[in-house]
Amino acid sequence: MTGMNLNFLKGNKTNLLILAVLCLFQLACKNKKVDETSVDFITDTSGQVDFGKTDESAYTPAIRENMKKLYEDKFGMFVHWGPYAQLEGMWKGKRVSAEWIMKRGPIPIADYEREAAGKFKPEKFNPHEWIDIAENAGMRFIVLTAKHHDGFAMYDSQHPYNIVDFADFGRDVFKELSEACAERDMNLGFYYSQSQDWHEKGGVGNDWDFEGVLKPQEDFDDYFKNKVAVQVDELTKNYGDIFMVWFDTPIQMDDEKCQWMMDIVKENQPGALVNSRLGNGYGHFDVSIDNGQTPSVSKATWLPDLKVPWQTHESVTKGGWGYTAYGGDLDRSEDYVDFIYSLCRIVGNGGVYLLNVAPRPDGTIPQSQANSLRAIGEWLEVNGESIYGADPSPLKFPPYPITSKPGKIYLHLQDIDENEVALDGILSKVNKVYCLADPSKKALTFQQDDEKLRIAVPNELHQPRVTVIVLEIEDQEAKVFDETLQQQADGSIQLPVSKCEFAIRRISYDYDTQLTHRWGENTKQGLIWTVDVQKPGVFKVISEDTGNAGFEYALNAPTDTLTLHAKGNIGELTKKEQGSITIEKAGVQTLTVYPTIPTSKATKLSYKFKGLELVPVE
Ligand code: GLC
Repeated sequence: MTGMNLNFLKGNKTNLLILAVLCLFQLACKNKKVDETSVDFITDTSGQVDFGKTDESAYTPAIRENMKKLYEDKFGMFVHWGPYAQLEGMWKGKRVSAEWIMKRGPIPIADYEREAAGKFKPEKFNPHEWIDIAENAGMRFIVLTAKHHDGFAMYDSQHPYNIVDFADFGRDVFKELSEACAERDMNLGFYYSQSQDWHEKGGVGNDWDFEGVLKPQEDFDDYFKNKVAVQVDELTKNYGDIFMVWFDTPIQMDDEKCQWMMDIVKENQPGALVNSRLGNGYGHFDVSIDNGQTPSVSKATWLPDLKVPWQTHESVTKGGWGYTAYGGDLDRSEDYVDFIYSLCRIVGNGGVYLLNVAPRPDGTIPQSQANSLRAIGEWLEVNGESIYGADPSPLKFPPYPITSKPGKIYLHLQDIDENEVALDGILSKVNKVYCLADPSKKALTFQQDDEKLRIAVPNELHQPRVTVIVLEIEDQEAKVFDETLQQQADGSIQLPVSKCEFAIRRISYDYDTQLTHRWGENTKQGLIWTVDVQKPGVFKVISEDTGNAGFEYALNAPTDTLTLHAKGNIGELTKKEQGSITIEKAGVQTLTVYPTIPTSKATKLSYKFKGLELVPVE
């Protein structure tokens, strides 16, 4: 073995750590303890997946044009569809997994070819029905899995393992979709799993037909050259305008391969936007962890003259991204409002949203999924002004989803208690307030005292899902108060996750519990707080988290560091006193925590972090 794989095994501390993590991961998979929807290789690749490698020169006029479209359009349809749907999540009479079924089975290639790929004949596939569903949801682009980790091409590829030839279906579904999208003015992108390919000897992941999850460098190189490069070339050459290329799980990727992909895409599709899961910091826009949410507004990827949004994604199905008999037809009407609220929150925090559907093996999108989507579309028909083309919240830590446009601020409210809406922090003079769903835009009564705003919203204006209240303000761009965290009157400093910024996007926050949803898996997952310290000194550090044996993280002040441990029972939120830290100087400063020994994969799902409290030592 040569190259990266060998380096990997040579074993400096970090590499050994990564190896240990991967071994644990494999063990966990064997024990089937891991939920297939949350395992990805996003946080445990060689750690080189930060965004920003692609410099400004990559933002050519064609890229800028599409980036502006993405920023304007905000909301797209993700489609996970392939031969895994044929198995409907079941293998040998048991529920196994959705699009990860082949690996989770594990299903030998020969069996998967026979039972899934060979039988996959989606006779009822009609691209126009899909586009209808997307349009009715208010979605402005579609991203289809052209090749997922199972290695099967959903289009007419030179590689024989494809829907036209291998499945003997004879139809190129991606072609049909691309033609229909062109006709209907719907932007189209494709998802492509460049590293994981469980069908190929040199593709990452298949350790049941072949040796090891990671592959000897020459095998991976071979696979990459003969399959990935060829297919990405075909996909960007033969299907008209491609809006976006969505790579995934960048394992064993190096700079050279990333640049190669960037070059092929650019050559064939000068305007196609590449996501950051290409790996190693490459790509035009940054993608979060699956289902990733941030507690704060993030404009970290904006260029001086181009708003480059981040992107996150969720699925209307449960139990995975592909269709299963048990998660694909669920009626999620009770969750409609959550999807709408997600959309508002993501846009309010500077992001764009891909919502996934999982078509059946016959090619139809189940009515239950279409219903969930339609509810969002209905809401957008009335309230779209606050979403499409909107800028993020002017407040960095909005109390509920807030978006803005020049001269306007949009408040998104799920519940309105006692007919009153409160907002602290807006300094710009408010001229008029009204409900976006009210066609007459009747002015609402409000009171603005310094930074405190109180609005009366009569009952009849409360909307069934999310009510949007519009503030017309004096300034084009809202002035807001200083949100720097302040030391409390008793000298303590509160560092809740709800008030931090993420160092990278591969962390996730849960709004309902105000805990991390994914954190601790790698050493780059920094949480950052900006604090104004009036009274410096020595502080006792109290953490609040659930247990995770072995997990260590460091609290960093400008001149001191403290190692913290996630002691305690797994799944149980507890406060722990963890030693002390010195903050030497007064003034505005940055305090951070970074994982030093990542969480154990086997128990990571239950690890949650709430934050820290620093109490002055007298
Ligand atoms: C994950 C999974 C994959 C899914 C994707 C969706 O990393 O590996 O099954 O396609 O993310 O975002």
